[in-house]
Amino acid sequence: MSDAMVSASLKPNLAEIEERLLGGTTQRRGEAVFARGEGCWLWDTTGKRYLDLTAAQGVAMLGHSHPVLSAALAKQAQTLIACPNFLYNDTRALFAAKLAEVLPAHLNHIFLANSGAEAIDGGLKFARLVTERTGIIATMRSFHGRTIGAVSMTWEPKYRKPFEPLLDVTHVPYNNLEKLDAALDERIGVVVLETVQGEGGVNVGEAEFLQGAEKLCRERGALLMIDEIQTGFGRTGKWFGHQHFDLQPDIICMAKGIGGGFPMGAIAYNDHVNTALYQGAHGSTFGGNPLASAAGLAAIQIYQDEKVIEHAAEMGELLFARLNATLLDRMIVREIRGTGLMVGIELREKAGRYIKMLMDDYGVLVLPAGSNVIRLLPPLIVTPDELEIGIQALAGVLPA
Ligand SMILES: Cc1ncc(COP(=O)(O)O)c(C=O)c1O
Repeated sequence: MSDAMVSASLKPNLAEIEERLLGGTTQRRGEAVFARGEGCWLWDTTGKRYLDLTAAQGVAMLGHSHPVLSAALAKQAQTLIACPNFLYNDTRALFAAKLAEVLPAHLNHIFLANSGAEAIDGGLKFARLVTERTGIIATMRSFHGRTIGAVSMTWEPKYRKPFEPLLDVTHVPYNNLEKLDAALDERIGVVVLETVQGEGGVNVGEAEFLQGAEKLCRERGALLMIDEIQTGFGRTGKWFGHQHFDLQPDIICMAKGIGGGFPMGAIAYNDHVNTALYQGAHGSTFGGNPLASAAGLAAIQIYQDEKVIEHAAEMGELLFARLNATLLDRMIVREIRGTGLMVGIELREKAGRYIKMLMDDYGVLVLPAGSNVIRLLPPLIVTPDELEIGIQALAGVLPA
């Protein structure tokens, strides 16, 4: 037997290992095992190349293996990986200052966490301390994560129902100000909104609803917390989704793009919220660790230096124009909607088989959003040519 044959025969079946040990809660799409990425492209262990129009679930805004981001991580990994929050750390301080540069000025306090759901749970705790109220309003079709606090607000019943009783959450229809008005009574401490619902179908918020929600919160002593986990860091063509609507939220929750793909979450909040906090009110062992901070510092610097967010806005316009021109007249397509590089193609039937065909037949990765929507969340650095490859693949799988 040749050396190559010996090593092939000893090679573990990596997909099988993941399925056996990590399969309990996760449904996988196909057998491919991904091993390498560069820009908008991924390679599996057989060498097959895929166009990643998901940015690894909306996080790799700078694509994969951005050289400046990778170098910053490597340098920090060789310098200091762990430094607890009870000690000051140079990289964490520099990252906090950099994040403050891009945050709206009134959100001048930050808590560093590790994920989106953790940021959401922290934000809920802060709101509870400020208002001393337990009621929460979220919206139908919302998605806020899977921890027990975040899943209380996540709309999809299959994610939420098995874990009841949960927090005291009232779900109102998205973009329905009248229903929000009726639900927002003196028990409600916080209204939690996405400016574009991501997982729920790429539903774009209306200015009247979002601005009306802010006004109602102010009148009734509730806080407005915006979930910027998917919409933040340029996804919608601005730094934050709420900036399309001139909102002044009390709290925003961030994750996904904040570290350019490195796991990290954050909460930013205003002076009013800060007055209710005290040392020990919240904490996190890993939150703001030097490696994540180095990633965040480098990522935001790249967003600024390479005008990534301006590019995303431009690519978003191009993508919509090309999708509309190519797909809108197909019977199967009900609607194409979104903002910036956050795009949903709603079909008149379930999207799953088309998503699988895109991967298997065209090597193009896309996401679902709800059952009928194909969601595109490309890296913000995507080029017109790469978008066109995705559009042609969509044109190839969706019936004419
Ligand atoms: C809008 C929104 N909120 C919260 C979350 C949860 O983030 P995480 O998976 O990092 O906990 C997600 C994740 O997809 C999200 O899209």
